[in-house]
Amino acid sequence: MARFSCTKIIIILFYVLLFLLLSCTTLQNTKTKVKAFPFHTNGRWIVDEEEGGKRVKLACLSWMAHGLAVVAEGLSKQPLDSITKRIRPMGFNCIRLTWPLELVINESLASLTVKESFNRLGLFDDINGIQAHNPSILDLPLINAFQAVVKSLGDKMVILDNHCTKPSMCCSETDQNGFFGDKYFDPHVWIKGLTKMATMFNGVTNVVAMSLRNEPRGPRSNLKDWYRYMAEGAEAVHGANPNVLVIISGLVWDQDLSFLKNQPLKLSFNGKLVFEVHQYSYGKGPGWQIENPNKMCAKILGEAMRNSSFLLEQGRPVMLSEFGVNMKGTNLGDNRFLNCYLGMLAELDMDWALWTLVGSYYIRNGDFIVGAGEVYGVLNEDWIRVRNASILHKISAVQLPFRGPGLSSKANKQHKVIFHPLTGLCVLTKSTVDPLRLGPCSNSDHWQYKPQETKLSIEGTLLCLKAYGEGKAPKLGRECSSPNSTWKMVSDSKMHLSSRVNKNGSSVRVCLDVDTTNNIIVTNTCKCLTTHKSCDAESQWFKLVDSVGGGV
Ligand SMILES: *[C@@H]1O[C@H](CO)[C@@H](O)[C@H](O)[C@H]1NC(C)=O
Ligand SMILES: *[C@@H]1O[C@H](CO)[C@@H](O)[C@H](O)[C@H]1NC(C)=O
Ligand SMILES: *[C@@H]1O[C@H](CO)[C@@H](O)[C@H](O)[C@H]1NC(C)=O
Repeated sequence: MARFSCTKIIIILFYVLLFLLLSCTTLQNTKTKVKAFPFHTNGRWIVDEEEGGKRVKLACLSWMAHGLAVVAEGLSKQPLDSITKRIRPMGFNCIRLTWPLELVINESLASLTVKESFNRLGLFDDINGIQAHNPSILDLPLINAFQAVVKSLGDKMVILDNHCTKPSMCCSETDQNGFFGDKYFDPHVWIKGLTKMATMFNGVTNVVAMSLRNEPRGPRSNLKDWYRYMAEGAEAVHGANPNVLVIISGLVWDQDLSFLKNQPLKLSFNGKLVFEVHQYSYGKGPGWQIENPNKMCAKILGEAMRNSSFLLEQGRPVMLSEFGVNMKGTNLGDNRFLNCYLGMLAELDMDWALWTLVGSYYIRNGDFIVGAGEVYGVLNEDWIRVRNASILHKISAVQLPFRGPGLSSKANKQHKVIFHPLTGLCVLTKSTVDPLRLGPCSNSDHWQYKPQETKLSIEGTLLCLKAYGEGKAPKLGRECSSPNSTWKMVSDSKMHLSSRVNKNGSSVRVCLDVDTTNNIIVTNTCKCLTTHKSCDAESQWFKLVDSVGGGV
């Protein structure tokens, strides 16, 4: 046996110390409760109970507990507390925890123990896994296991999302769980179930919101019932638990709230109502893969504005409570969709929930694959490792709020940051001679931009940005009135920052771009401005985002 050398001992000591340090911080984390609960709304923002109401930005992950087993996924893979401790370090502050209505209205289901539930599905490996990793929940009734998950979430905010009635992988047009009056969607039973759930979690201070029903859909969909029963559901939840925010889905798979423009939803209470929408890359006509990306992004964001985002402009809160991408990064449509949507999430500074935390499913009904991996999951099949760190890093750019009540100060007045969704970074200046670079948005300079003046300048200075030509780095200078210091947002997507330079005596258009080999900002020929289809525009996609200074 080799003797321990001095370096080895030092290394071991280092890890022991690191371990102690980490356990201390995580212990602290689980003890802290959600601060300044309960929340309410102030215009389009969700705010806390601090004096004046400070903005709370929900940056959530969905965690499924509505599957056939009716147990939060992953508990046969890792200890519950290990999973819930992974959430904050990835930058998320919230979980959208899904549940099937039957969990509270079907006594014979709710009283099954976790073991019995897996037993009846023949999932014996999962029973062994839960025995190994979470022995304390194995003999709990399903409803108590659900409560144990909420408890373990500790200081993470929780949205309880009624996802369906029958436990199963959601959803289809014809699954009879889709709209009021469907075989498994009796509005009165639903209201009874919502009331029970709201009552059960009254006083549980990390449960900050309840979403009434996931993705209304199917042939029975109609506005009359939507207005009637959503109002009744909201009143029932508020009556049973006035602390929680009430979140309400739109029609057509939670894509469409356009009808609220003409007819608001009338409720007896104020300051607790939030709407939600969902968006994915699939099911969108010719599609993200084959359409010109500028055209597609403009088309979808235009629809999203008419369907739902207009509510923000009217001072009503809307959350993007589902979106997500294949984390393998191999789906071109998903990649383009994500870049387009990150731009929107930053610009509108919305609250959101990513689909999903889940690394794998106990059983995926539909195909009945046991232990199926979830390529949209932030965690891997092992429920420890991150599936794709670079995509997670991009998404982390929109985890912190850019603006909102109580966030600005004298030192941090509202300004612009130049956000680059492809990298999740912002354009930073180091000095007037060094080229611009990408870096964390929290380190961004205070850019100023008024579309009518078309100057990109730095607050409190006489400096503005000037283009020098194709492949060349733009620079800051004091000469602000020439055509090459004039910047406009162009293309269908309006995400290209364009200027004009002189080339062989004629004026040509260039667009801000990233030179990835030297990691600097340059200007290049603008990409994909025409209807050209097989064309990647995203290195030139930027958003001028209102911010009061990152890291707030
Ligand atoms: C209640 O749950 C059990 C177990 O999943 C199921 O067999 C039964 O059909 C459910 N009852 C109703 C009324 O849905
Ligand atoms: C807008 O709503 C319609 C249904 O009314 C839907 O077909 C369309 O896909 C939605 N668009 C977006 C971007 O959500
Ligand atoms: C992560 O996604 C990127 C695309 O954004 C892709 O190039 C990379 O291969 C992915 N990594 C893994 C481990 O899947």
